[in-house]
Amino acid sequence: VILESLLPAGAAPLDVTTDEGRADLRGRYAPPAGEWLRLNLVAAVSGDAAGGDGTSDSLSNPVDRAVLAAVRDLADAVLVGAASVRTEGYRVPRSAALVVVTASGDLTGHRLDPERAERVVVVCPEAAVATVRAALGPAVAPLVTVVTLPHDGTGRLDPAAVVSLLRDRGLRSLVCEGGPTLAGQLLRDGLVDELCLTTSPVVVGSGLPALGRERFDASRLELVQLLRDADSALYARWTVRGGPATR
Ligand SMILES: NC(=O)c1ccc[n+]([C@@H]2O[C@H](COP(=O)([O-])OP(=O)(O)OC[C@H]3O[C@@H](n4cnc5c(N)ncnc54)[C@H](OP(=O)(O)O)[C@@H]3O)[C@@H](O)[C@H]2O)c1
Repeated sequence: VILESLLPAGAAPLDVTTDEGRADLRGRYAPPAGEWLRLNLVAAVSGDAAGGDGTSDSLSNPVDRAVLAAVRDLADAVLVGAASVRTEGYRVPRSAALVVVTASGDLTGHRLDPERAERVVVVCPEAAVATVRAALGPAVAPLVTVVTLPHDGTGRLDPAAVVSLLRDRGLRSLVCEGGPTLAGQLLRDGLVDELCLTTSPVVVGSGLPALGRERFDASRLELVQLLRDADSALYARWTVRGGPATR
């Protein structure tokens, strides 16, 4: 539960089980600009996005979950791909909107609470709307906003169009929690300002690279913060040099 700061060196350790520690953590993760897009992912040292259970749960720990909560609290919206909703049974964050991107409309396995469903936005092609509504179920579907965008013929939406749609709705500070397929496309298209990466102290051969299988050109990163917990997990903030907010 104690997070020690390696960068900046000498910053006081913080205990994320306390209100004060959690407030401090939010301060350390405050985005530097109002319009900002982060990826927040956990990866094994081997670069895998999933552990032995086929999800990121087994790579995470209570400190990582505290970091995830802090980053969520600082965002206007959490952006995820539909496979993460299906695999990880996504819940709606306590304050941010939840935006789900899907080509198929299949959101089977979601755990969206009707009480928070008004903060859910599903972005999909027109042809997937009926599937989205059926998968959400009668208690949740009427409360969720479904927005359609043109697609490339296979159902894939343009990630830049998804981001602009959210910004047009006033959702300026965004965090994409994956999965790898969506995260890789955002990087490929130069839409990412910062990568918040937890490195879980494990090697595993899950076959799921943390940033997916998209091919994209290199971007230079700058390490602006590095924390370590007592379990040897590392919590890095990497900003993208020349990222969209600074262009
Ligand atoms: N390590 C981590 O931090 C982390 C985070 C999240 C998830 N995960 C793990 O990642 C795995 C899932 O991986 P994934 O890469 O398949 O997840 P994903 O990126 O969450 O989901 C991929 C799906 O998102 C939709 N999608 C993505 N880009 C789209 C686009 N441009 N247009 C329209 N729809 C788009 C499609 O949904 P449809 O299939 O519905 O068309 C696509 O199949 C799970 O094992 C999960 O546990 C790990």
